[in-house]
Amino acid sequence: MIFAANFKTNHTRASTRLYTEKLRSGIAAKHADDKIYIFPPATALDRFEGDFTIGAQNAYMAQNGAFTGEIGLEQLAEFDIRTILIGHSERREFLGEDQEFIAKKFSFFQSQGFEILYCIGEPLEIREQGEQAVIEFLLSQFEGIDISYDKLIIAYEPIWAIGTGRSATVNEIATTHEALKKTVQKPLLYGGSVKLDNIREIIQIRGVDGVLVGSASLDVEQFSKMILS
Ligand code: PGA
Repeated sequence: MIFAANFKTNHTRASTRLYTEKLRSGIAAKHADDKIYIFPPATALDRFEGDFTIGAQNAYMAQNGAFTGEIGLEQLAEFDIRTILIGHSERREFLGEDQEFIAKKFSFFQSQGFEILYCIGEPLEIREQGEQAVIEFLLSQFEGIDISYDKLIIAYEPIWAIGTGRSATVNEIATTHEALKKTVQKPLLYGGSVKLDNIREIIQIRGVDGVLVGSASLDVEQFSKMILS
């Protein structure tokens, strides 16, 4: 199973260090084949010791240069960061990243050999139109994306389930994952209000290869328990 923590705009460099120290001992008893990813904010990127991978929530498609407010390969290389989140709905929605831009970013980081955690997810009005509309919408988010890339992990995160406390139902997750797997044969995570009291039933769903956790990952004890659950 894959357990990924997306801190978003939470935690500092100091608290991330403490977090990773506690995580190291907290997950000592995890299954050997479980993979853990932590995506701290850019200011907290660093080298941390432990059986987990640190990834960037975002970066610009450049080695370095005049891209005010962005970080590039040079800043990631300082900490050996080789993993990146691309396509998260918050960047699509609040930062105005459209599919064309996202696809360019994807190609750039693919060409650099990064491991890419690529996020897709539908808004509520699409979910309300039924499963067929959902799948069509999700597949449109693969436009320009090389889904045969060997270092690709997909995260399905319905927008209406992110940070709302309302996860998709087991049936919704199962049906959507099954449909997606017909097109993409890559590890497929579910994200959207995954927490301690629903993680077990979610990771047992066929077609779920792991989870991407926001709010419930911020507390290291809780996240460690989720991994060991
Ligand atoms: P959430 O966020 O767990 O707080 O719903 C998930 C995500 O956006 O990755």
